[in-house]
Formats: sequence, structure tokens, C-alpha cells
Amino acid sequence: MINKDNIDYVSEIKRLKKKKNVIILAHYYQTGDIQDIADFVGDSLALSQKAASNDAEIILFAGVRFMAETAKILSPEKKVLIPDMNARCSLADSCKAEDFKKFIENNPGRTVITYVNTNIDIKVLSDIICTSSNAVQIIESLPVDIKILFGPDRNLGNYIMNKTGRDIIVWNGACHVHEEFSLEGILKLKQENPEAKVIVHPECKLPVRMVADYIGSTSALIKFAKKDDAASFIVGTEPGIIHQMKKENPSKKFIPAPPRDSTCGCNECSFMKMITMEKIYRCIRDERPEIMIDPDVIKKASIPINRMMEISEKLGL
Ligand code: 13P
Ligand code: SF4
Repeated sequence: MINKDNIDYVSEIKRLKKKKNVIILAHYYQTGDIQDIADFVGDSLALSQKAASNDAEIILFAGVRFMAETAKILSPEKKVLIPDMNARCSLADSCKAEDFKKFIENNPGRTVITYVNTNIDIKVLSDIICTSSNAVQIIESLPVDIKILFGPDRNLGNYIMNKTGRDIIVWNGACHVHEEFSLEGILKLKQENPEAKVIVHPECKLPVRMVADYIGSTSALIKFAKKDDAASFIVGTEPGIIHQMKKENPSKKFIPAPPRDSTCGCNECSFMKMITMEKIYRCIRDERPEIMIDPDVIKKASIPINRMMEISEKLGL
């Protein structure tokens, strides 16, 4: 890709990656060109596992800030870069530490389990972190009489509550992308493509989850699309994921689920899309912006994250 400055980003990024011993980790919601330049593409859990175990000196995270912060917590000795510090997460930002602290105080005696889509000050307040691919299994691995406080996603919380039947109180947060999918739009697509299977992320609202043939994390959706016999799928999550789905299944059809407002393009995560090839090039060249976290905070936040990593490893996730 030659740009206006006459720089071939792909070959320059590849050259600098090798020279500086950088690993590029990318989430499935990144654009296709970024996924293709990455050394590893995955969901939040797989990306954390890769961040915790690799031989690179520098991690460049093509994703949102909580993901890069988690990588830094898991590999504090490494330099962790993110091409745009403003690539945040509306779900993480829907949960402020001072409010969450009160929520915990008002519901004493509960194990605090939080989704990895949180800012670091929430992780510090948590007992165990989870992702969408291990939330149900982590909760099921705990004694049945344990009472749980879950945050910040109300939809994922409601999903795991129904799946596990456990006593869970859920924080009222949500992701601006997954809340926007239109049930009517999905049903209309289903009418036009009756053979298509509806596959959605657990961050979607209950009515959307109710019409789904399959619900799972981004990697679980990709795996399902590969192994299932259906020739077409209506995909209820950020459409960046369709790049991998198409790569793995060139003959299958993937239809992005529409947002309620068909003119807004708001089924895309604007934060994920802040990362561009140009920013990755500048970031790897200048080795900034860098994720910097106070070592004491790293120590505290690593406790619930490491619990998640240990339970996941034990469960073979
Ligand atoms: P996954 O862990 O399923 O990739 O989800 C991350 C995310 O941000 C979903 O919106
Ligand atoms: Fe956060 Fe939603 Fe973007 Fe995922 S899609 S990173 S939950 S804002």
C-alpha cells in the first residue's frame, strides 16, 4: 500500500517489526489490512494469552486501550505500544471506578467478576477477570453457593446469568455497537435469506440473542462459521470479523447485521477503527504512544487477571 508520502506501509512495518523484534497483536475488529499484517489475530482471551507468552521485546497492540493495558499487565517487562491512545471502549467507559466501588459496597459479600472490557481502576477492584469466551466456564468453576457481582456489560451479564443459573447482580453498562443491532433488521435479513444462520456476540441485547442460532465470543463465532454446514450467516457483531470469516470460508456468505439507524454506520466500533496502517507505521517507527502503568497498579491488577489465566489454562480454554 503506497500512500501520499510514498511510503509502503506494509513493507516498512514488516522491516521495522523484524529489526526491533516487535510482535503485532490485532483484534478481529481491526480492518482487514491490519489483520493481515499482524503476527497474531484473536479475541480478548487469545490476545491476552499471546501477550503473556511471546519472545518479542515490544508488543504493538492493534486494538483498544484496555486490551493493550491487559498486555502490559501480563508482560510488564515489555514495551507495549498502541497506535492511538484515544482508542478506548464505550463499554469500559460506562463503568467509573467511584460508582463501581459504591456498587460493591452496597452489595457486600459478593465475588466481583468483571469483563476484561474495563479500565484498569475497575480491574483493581475485581476478584476475577473474564472475557466473553470464558465467562460462563469461569463462573461454573466456582462453588455454586457463591454470590456474584458482575460488570460492566448488562447483556453479557444477563447471558451468563441465564446460562449458569447463578446468583448474579449485574452492573448496568453496555457497548454502543452491540446495543445498536436492529432486531427488525435481522428478521428482515432472515426473511430474505431463510437459509442463513444468525450468529451473535453475547454483548447483544436479549431480543437479538433470542433469535440467534449461535452466541459466542469473536473466536467462537469464527469457529462456528467454519464448522457449521450453513452456506450463509447473518453476523451480529462488529463487521471487522467478517474479514477472517471470508478468508477461512471463501464460498460462504457473511451478511453484517444492520444497526437500528441504517445511515449511521454505527455497527462499526469507531474506537477500533481509530487504528490505521499509517498510525501503526508511525508507532512502530517512533516507539510511542507507549502504555505506562504504575508498577503498584500492575501488581494489583495482575491478581484478578492471573486468576482468569490460571482458571482458563486449567479448563483448557
Ligand atoms: P471478544 O473477546 O469476543 O473478542 O470481544 C471483545 C469485544 O470488545 C467485543 O466487543
Ligand atoms: Fe468496546 Fe464495543 Fe468497541 Fe468492543 S465493540 S471494543 S465492547 S466499544
